[in-house]
Amino acid sequence: MKKPLLLGLGGSFVLISLLISQNFTYVGAAKCAMCHRSEKQGQQFPIWEKSTHSTSFKALSSPQAKIYAQSEGVTNPTESPQCLKCHAPLFEKASDLKAEGVTCEVCHGPGSEYRKLNIMKDRELAVKNGLIVYADEAAIRQQCLTCHAMAHGKTFDFASAWAKIKHPVPGK
Ligand code: HEC
Ligand code: HEC
Ligand code: HEC
Ligand code: HEC
Repeated sequence: MKKPLLLGLGGSFVLISLLISQNFTYVGAAKCAMCHRSEKQGQQFPIWEKSTHSTSFKALSSPQAKIYAQSEGVTNPTESPQCLKCHAPLFEKASDLKAEGVTCEVCHGPGSEYRKLNIMKDRELAVKNGLIVYADEAAIRQQCLTCHAMAHGKTFDFASAWAKIKHPVPGK
């Protein structure tokens, strides 16, 4: 009788893991800022805030946006998935975070679970709790290209673009 019992436990474990993985939700950059603002940590929040990734939703209300929209037959850029998919990519999964544009969790995954300090300090555990990490520079570049591949007809120079927005922990 031992085997079925073990199988039963295994089954519910898988089920519980699945349920948990579906529960990761987006919390917004202010939550990350608590720990990722200081010079010692690497100023990730201020670096992001100064980049246009933090204002990419706002850009959809600019005069230039009207011009792009017209040429693509879009009437309302701030509402159109055709623009939001790159400028406010959480518009469906977390519409309350639309205004954050290309925010932390677009690149790092939904943070409701991994943002806890004991989990954040343990990379493996953080990944199990929804953190997305990148194996190497090729993987990072690939992620950028989901939006930057000839966007608005412009070429993308990965090296210089990454140099502009990267935000390492000092000494790492
Ligand atoms: C309670 C504090 C805290 C909060 C809140 C927090 N972090 Fe962290 N985070 C840390 C610490 C501590 C580390 C480990 C830094 C180190 O390696 O020196 C870390 C590491 C990371 C790493 C690097 C992981 C790796 O090993 O490559 C990323 C990416 C990250 N955090 C993103 C986020 C994002 C995105 C949020 C918001 C959703 C967030 N963090 C919220 C404290 C926090
Ligand atoms: C495939 C992803 C993608 C889509 C779809 C997209 N954009 Fe962009 N957009 C970008 C990127 C990337 C940039 C930054 C380009 C750069 O500076 O290299 C940008 C820049 C802009 C800018 C800043 C000004 C400029 O000339 O660079 C405006 C305004 C803009 N987009 C409006 C729109 C509008 C309106 C739509 C929908 C009709 C749209 N975008 C659809 C990726 C996208
Ligand atoms: C979800 C879509 C998306 C992804 C993924 C993305 N970007 Fe962007 N990026 C944008 C948009 C949209 C803009 C234009 C924002 C604007 O002009 O308002 C932009 C602008 C930029 C700029 C101009 C910033 C400035 O302040 O001058 C740089 C540099 C950049 N991105 C680099 C990167 C790099 C490097 C990666 C990969 C690590 C990346 N982006 C991933 C959508 C994206
Ligand atoms: C356009 C995508 C993008 C955005 C937006 C972004 N990051 Fe990152 N971040 C990366 C990439 C790529 C790396 C390097 C690869 C890695 O460590 O997994 C990285 C690295 C990090 C690291 C680890 C640095 C190290 O040296 O270990 C932390 C911490 C971090 N990001 C936090 C944040 C926080 C907090 C925000 C928002 C305020 C944010 N990131 C916004 C793409 C992004």
